[in-house]
Amino acid sequence: MGYRIVVAGATGNVGREMLNILAEREFPVDEIAALASRRSLGTEVSFGDKTLKTQDLATFDFSGWDMALFAIGSDATKEYAPKAAAAGCVVIDNSSLYRYDPDIPLIVPEVNADAIHGYSKKNIIANPNCSTAQMVVALKPLHDRARIKRVVVSTYQSVSGAGKEGMDELWDQTKAVYNPTSDVPPKKFTKEIAFNVIPHIDVFMEDGSTKEEWKMVAETKKIVDPKIKVTATCVRVPVFVGHSEAINIEFEEFLDEDEARDILREAPGIMVIDKRENGGYVTPKECVGDFATFISRIRQDSTIENGINLWCVSDNLRKGAALNAVQIAEVLGQKVLKKG
Ligand SMILES: NC(=O)c1ccc[n+]([C@@H]2O[C@H](COP(=O)([O-])OP(=O)(O)OC[C@H]3O[C@@H](n4cnc5c(N)ncnc54)[C@H](OP(=O)(O)O)[C@@H]3O)[C@@H](O)[C@H]2O)c1
Repeated sequence: MGYRIVVAGATGNVGREMLNILAEREFPVDEIAALASRRSLGTEVSFGDKTLKTQDLATFDFSGWDMALFAIGSDATKEYAPKAAAAGCVVIDNSSLYRYDPDIPLIVPEVNADAIHGYSKKNIIANPNCSTAQMVVALKPLHDRARIKRVVVSTYQSVSGAGKEGMDELWDQTKAVYNPTSDVPPKKFTKEIAFNVIPHIDVFMEDGSTKEEWKMVAETKKIVDPKIKVTATCVRVPVFVGHSEAINIEFEEFLDEDEARDILREAPGIMVIDKRENGGYVTPKECVGDFATFISRIRQDSTIENGINLWCVSDNLRKGAALNAVQIAEVLGQKVLKKG
């Protein structure tokens, strides 16, 4: 016996990847429903070798469904997730709406799978922000060995993190550079993204940081350890898929770069590609479609007593969103619902 599973936002970047990954990982599915807005009613989406027709989320009855993977943005989630949860369907949500609610677990399975049992308070589980997910996969095994005091991270985030409209904007503006008769003004982003980088993701906070930067701080504390201090600068770059991060870590204890490399090689969800030669590291283009978080450029930071620098790259639509959500569904199935 398998699960009756719902994917809400099935026509979007993350929703389509959720369907792909459920099929790729042979998730035990008895029945699957693909939902989107009324605008997309009847749109066809792929699930393995099958084609599903999308149904309208607004009129969908969640009773009798086991789990719903949501990837529809905070406003729509606010309206529909409580309905699904009240009907007994466990929601695994990709928006930021519930991430900081103390009664809702925020889970990256390689790091805090045991938090799954907290789901029952509200029947909702939150998935972290894309840039947090890949970073904490790398931080956790190092923290277990040498206790992290402080993290300084700069991100290089792809346009797919801003949904399908973000990808269209980079594509259209890039074409317009070669065909100057068409003008594509910034819409999804605040400045032109083609051949540019923008140090601004999500809204500004009172202290001058952005909400994306604040999310990395708050989510790392909730998932790994509230004692870890994080300071982040989040930057949008003209890459379609794949987020990169330059991470500087200060530990309580000394950690040698070779030992850090060995620890990361053994850690779940991580692939270390770290040769000190031309091309001996991973770039976002190479991680597209992969499950792993890739770590390169591991080296001592000799400007502080106990410091390590590293480069961390992952497919933001996978580990940063859809894969992590499917992994949470797997943990929920194995540890709690026990059907598959
Ligand atoms: N992209 C990432 O790297 C990433 C990472 C982590 C979390 N997330 C989160 O995942 C969510 C989806 O992101 P995305 O990148 O997939 O966005 P997207 O490509 O723009 O897709 C949005 C999806 O949501 C659906 N939707 C929007 N409003 C709806 C409504 N009122 N009722 C029903 N369906 C509605 C859309 O359906 P229609 O096609 O019918 O409009 C579409 O399927 C967001 O909360 C985002 O913050 C994204």
